[in-house]
Amino acid sequence: MGHARLRGALGSGGGGAAIDGNRPSHSATSPARGGLDSANNHSPHHHVSLTVPHFDYVAKLARDVAAIVLERGKEYLVVLRLTPLSKAHGFPSLGDFIEHLRTRPLDLAHHQVVDALTTNETMFFRDGAPFEALRQQLLPALLTRAATTRRLRFWSAACSTGQEPYSLAMLLLEAAPQLRDWDVRILATDLCVNTLGLAAAGSFTPFEIARGLPEPLRNKYFTRQSDQWTVKEELRRMIEFRRLNLAQPWPDLPTFDLIFIRNVMIYFDVATKQSILRRARERLQPHGHLFLGTAETTVNLDPTWRPVTLGGAVAYTPA
Ligand SMILES: C[S@@+](CC[C@H](N)C(=O)[O-])C[C@H]1O[C@@H](n2cnc3c(N)ncnc32)[C@H](O)[C@@H]1O
Repeated sequence: MGHARLRGALGSGGGGAAIDGNRPSHSATSPARGGLDSANNHSPHHHVSLTVPHFDYVAKLARDVAAIVLERGKEYLVVLRLTPLSKAHGFPSLGDFIEHLRTRPLDLAHHQVVDALTTNETMFFRDGAPFEALRQQLLPALLTRAATTRRLRFWSAACSTGQEPYSLAMLLLEAAPQLRDWDVRILATDLCVNTLGLAAAGSFTPFEIARGLPEPLRNKYFTRQSDQWTVKEELRRMIEFRRLNLAQPWPDLPTFDLIFIRNVMIYFDVATKQSILRRARERLQPHGHLFLGTAETTVNLDPTWRPVTLGGAVAYTPA
């Protein structure tokens, strides 16, 4: 992905520029798809050459730009993620790269650093239960409620490489084939431009496909091109991919029937979580529901959400 295109996609402030469907090149500036979880497999005790001021600078940058909290002890992660980026920028060492960043106003390189620090771990139909709850309980009610307008709006915030919005699109078409004739839109957003490029391209490796996607759905909604499975147009056209930083002011958004903000708030501090939950409520229909990750909750953060148990899942609805 050329820098000019990246810069355009980054936009300003809260972002929001559309990402096109071209797959970005896998340059050294692309974040690892495995994310923090795979980085955690590396010993935190191996020797790292990162000074305390350099680590503190990177941690503050991640916090200021994306609200991502990097505690001391994550030096190995910073080295692992940023060394390829510093090489791609032509610096002899990570220290030189960070010195360079420190002396310059926020630009593309700073955003690339933050992108490289994000965790993009995801899979199709992750955790199962929220999708089952949607299929069995929430969707029938939504179909009845919207029978006249035939309009439904969904948001996958922090969509990573796209497995979440594509899972949602497949579920909708499978559970309610009539939705093909409705006005159904899924907004899929993420902070990370490279990740969004992959999501919009909709091409997955056999390994990614094997993680959570049942074979009948794979065969129905994807086509095989050499060693990649690419999503069919029928699914892709239901989804709009845009950059959106949850930690900064949000652009204009529609009012949604269902919002997914899953497995991203775990990285944020309490004030950021509260701000996101408040704004998500403003963007949700009164009858709508919010799904969070299994390790996330509104409880003790925002009393204006009410948890509802739906089979094996917990959803949150405006209290
Ligand atoms: C672990 S993935 C979760 C993907 C998917 N929601 C799921 O549950 O499988 C977290 C995603 O959050 C994104 N992210 C991190 N900070 C963000 C922010 N401030 N605004 C928007 N997205 C952010 C990362 O780029 C990453 O793609």
